[in-house]
Amino acid sequence: MDVLIKNGTIATAEGSYKADLAIEKDKIAAISRNIEGEHGKVIDASGKLVMPGAIDVHVHLQLPFCGTVSADDFENGTKAAACGGVTSVIDFAIQKKGETLIDAVDARKAEADEKVCVDYALHAVPTDWGVNTAAEMEKLASDGITSFKMFMIYAKEGMISDDDALFSALETVSRFGGVVGVHAESVRVLDLLIERYHNEEDMKKYGAFCHVLSRPNFTEYEAISRAVTWAEATGGKLYIVHMSTGEGAEIVSKAHERGVKVFAETCPQYLLLDDSVFRKKDGHLYATCPQIKSKKDADRLWEGLATGDVSTIATDTCTFNTEQKAMWKGDFTKIPFGLPGVETLLPLAYSYGVVNNRLSLQKLVQTVSTNPAKIMGMYPEKGSLAVGSDADIVIFDPDRQIKLSHKDLQTNCDWSPFEGYELNGYPDVTICRGKVVAERGKFTGETGFGKFIKRRPGYDEL
Ligand code: URP
Ligand code: ZN
Ligand code: ZN
Repeated sequence: MDVLIKNGTIATAEGSYKADLAIEKDKIAAISRNIEGEHGKVIDASGKLVMPGAIDVHVHLQLPFCGTVSADDFENGTKAAACGGVTSVIDFAIQKKGETLIDAVDARKAEADEKVCVDYALHAVPTDWGVNTAAEMEKLASDGITSFKMFMIYAKEGMISDDDALFSALETVSRFGGVVGVHAESVRVLDLLIERYHNEEDMKKYGAFCHVLSRPNFTEYEAISRAVTWAEATGGKLYIVHMSTGEGAEIVSKAHERGVKVFAETCPQYLLLDDSVFRKKDGHLYATCPQIKSKKDADRLWEGLATGDVSTIATDTCTFNTEQKAMWKGDFTKIPFGLPGVETLLPLAYSYGVVNNRLSLQKLVQTVSTNPAKIMGMYPEKGSLAVGSDADIVIFDPDRQIKLSHKDLQTNCDWSPFEGYELNGYPDVTICRGKVVAERGKFTGETGFGKFIKRRPGYDEL
């Protein structure tokens, strides 16, 4: 065998047990109690957890957005992923006006292919629904892009899709089993409220907190409720990205009872932070859409992860450094929206989920790896530790204690929303398709090693 991981605790979506794991080329070749024989490299995983690599299905690397470009590009963003135990990411190919959806995908692939350091896939983002869009979606699905994403906001950025397009996309995926992701916020009311607070007096008085005042919970849950209605009416599968409200979790829970095909994702920022961050001196740094909500919302989202109302944790990585964030100059509508995150997903979810008894170890593996792989149509190659699966593995040290500092991270970000957080556990070795790509938080892989993942339609139920 090329690599033997000895004496670890294998942790999967189904449970944990002690075993050795052997890798031949890029696949898992054996998992059993005591594997002997000749091996190229032996890794002693005594006292460590051996898990399927995390899969972050929501990243925006080198995204032109809010008048700048997100600071982690495909190269550094995927190096950061590797350092954090993430072996696959899914980014977005956002259609420009007048461009075909297929051209948008080809252009984004051309930006990524030479740079990516772990495996990657793309969600195709229709922004200009037309007579050919449905056929393009079907063609993309047959070429391995089975997930699509629609923004219910961002009109002035030219990325919005209205209800007619969302309804049509859901009808389209219902024909071949694909999935439509939505950024669910109620654009009309949201824009009205943003305008209401967009005046000198309020901005002086409230600063970055205007971002909170203009986005009450109903601006998310009304949009979730509408999108769920279209999913129920069409039979199309829906994936709610970056869900931030407790009410959202309630809507999804009730939709599950009615048999609607809907999954929800949340992110570490909605689980671990609350909107008091916007009152801090540097509160503008935390601006992301949807904005961070209350502790009560976070509690309901944790509960949702445990019960299955919320299926995945992804990061919505969209890194802006302090210089980029400073573009706001006191105007909350001009803050580049987004946070760094891919590198800290797994250690945060482990430390604040498993160690704090919010998630079982099994649930952690499900929500950061197996469920994303199942929903996005790449299971069991990804998201699984089984003979024949890709050797995408993180050897995780549950005894490593670290105080999180952006200075120790690979990301190009010069701050972290989780600065100073105590981490009780950290990835020790990350293996992507049989290759060691990071050790003890340092990148050891190769630029361009990552492969584009061709996907199938994902699961309807988990
Ligand atoms: O503020 C965010 N989340 N920026 C990235 C774009 C998006 O809405 O996901
Ligand atoms: Zn979004
Ligand atoms: Zn996003």
